Amino acid sequence: MLTVIENISEKIADVFESLGYKREYGAVSVSARPDLCQFQCNSCFAAAKEARKAPFDIAAEVAEAASKQEIFTKVEAVRPGFVNITVTDEYLVSCVNELISNGNFGIKQVGAGKNLIVDYGGANVAKPLHIGHLRPAILGEALKRMARICGYNAIGDVHMGDWGMPLGLVIAELYVRHPEWKCFCDEFDPAVDKVEGITVDDLNEIYPFASKKSKEDEEFKELAHKMTCDLQDRKPNIFAVWQEIMRISVADLKKNYGKLGVSFELWYGESDSDKYIPELLEILDNKGLSRVDDGALVVDVADDDDKSPMPPVIVKKSDGSSNYATTDLATILQREQDYAPAAIWYVVDKRQALHFKQVFRAAKKSEIVNADCDMYHLGNGTMNGSDGKPFKTRDGGVMRLEELLNSVVSAVMEKLSENAYASEEEKLDAANKIAMAAIKFGDMINQPTKDYVFDIDKFISFEGKTGSYLLYTVTRINSIMRKAGECGEKISGIWSDAERDIIIRMLLTCDVFQRAINEKAPNVIAENAYFAACDFSRFYHDCRIIDEADENKKSSRLALCKAVNDYLKMQLNVLGIETVEKM
Ligand code: ARG
Repeated sequence: MLTVIENISEKIADVFESLGYKREYGAVSVSARPDLCQFQCNSCFAAAKEARKAPFDIAAEVAEAASKQEIFTKVEAVRPGFVNITVTDEYLVSCVNELISNGNFGIKQVGAGKNLIVDYGGANVAKPLHIGHLRPAILGEALKRMARICGYNAIGDVHMGDWGMPLGLVIAELYVRHPEWKCFCDEFDPAVDKVEGITVDDLNEIYPFASKKSKEDEEFKELAHKMTCDLQDRKPNIFAVWQEIMRISVADLKKNYGKLGVSFELWYGESDSDKYIPELLEILDNKGLSRVDDGALVVDVADDDDKSPMPPVIVKKSDGSSNYATTDLATILQREQDYAPAAIWYVVDKRQALHFKQVFRAAKKSEIVNADCDMYHLGNGTMNGSDGKPFKTRDGGVMRLEELLNSVVSAVMEKLSENAYASEEEKLDAANKIAMAAIKFGDMINQPTKDYVFDIDKFISFEGKTGSYLLYTVTRINSIMRKAGECGEKISGIWSDAERDIIIRMLLTCDVFQRAINEKAPNVIAENAYFAACDFSRFYHDCRIIDEADENKKSSRLALCKAVNDYLKMQLNVLGIETVEKM
């Protein structure tokens, strides 16, 4: 199916051709001045250069010839050389009906047949999710869904931090507290013995404690280091403790990501890349890319034209252990073997930009990944408090994600009226969804790379560029459709500017999604969904719907209501936002 822009471009291309110019000049775009026209063609300047004529003269020729075509109501040459185009309402109506019946609003399947790995979330085992994990989770989920609707086989991987010093710290502290545990004895046999009970609450308490202690207590730090080495060497009893920590920690992470409506196809972690490390090091060695530097094994990744320092990547530390870059490179090798992905996108805090630059360069240089694999780091900005600094708890600590979510849910609960819901459960369920929409939309309306201020009052307001406003619009349309009983099959005409504007917006869906996926920018979808809701509000304000006397008009408008509802829900779904029945 051609988009409306492509369709109109074809028609204008015919005109250029009939006048003796190249077809390619026919490309049109959506109007930059919607008050003057709907579409525009800017190619007369290029055509004029080639033909050695004045751009306006060519625009005038094109306008005159195009005016004879039935689908245009007005084609006008505008100085210095633009062609302004307006099409008939009949044409718009026929296009929108085709769009609706085709499903997916005409979004092109640019990703068909391609595997894409989205690496997001990035939770660390044994550490509770905190505010910093919110953005990569929300944005990554949206990016994955955006890619899916564009046809990609998109696979989300949480890529947990589960193999480094933090785990060694936790295990060391468990040992200090419970030296008598069987799992800390060399006689421990994982085949028959069980690791003593550890709870999520233990872990949440132990990690910060142990981390602080290691900074003050050299001996403890040594112990944690030893535990980390034992773990990476898979010493049976230490490995068993680690497995137990993983079991409870992953279950807790699943629960918490679940609350956010974020889910992963792959629950891999750094540890899963471990078995690919020998192969990685061998490839690097065979290709002559690694060298020993101060006892460590490094890969040079600097380019002659680098403007900022590009240090070598350390792939093996002087003590023989692997690090963050090693596990990321080994993971790329693993992904290439499992999926041969056309793209790997990482949604990780922008402060890790250098790390990813180094890793991508090493991956391409060593050819562990396909040469044209699109490796991209979407470096997210931070969510700040009203002081412009990363969001903190009242006492200045790092805020747990759960704490933040709960505070938004309570704020929403206070706003919802008692009598709208049949029961307290129903109300709480709605409050949860509204809170999630508020948080997610409040995040995604911003450019992902920019920082933004978390403003709870603004986010949960039912007016303005908010998730709540969008959910509210959907409930309003639902209620119209409920009252109407049945809704019209087809849109049969346009009787107001508001109807025309919504229809044109829906016809541009493919272009919006193309832009969003090219720029990896969920904010483009968030923005479009918001404007679609505004269009609907205007339509609702300007036009009679249920009480429209003319049956044909009424049925058409109800069909439009349904289309807009589907349109909003589709976009909210792409953003990972669930809708509610009542508000
Ligand atoms: N666990 C890491 C952190 O907390 C994020 C992981 C991101 N993904 C990756 N492939 N490096 O910083």
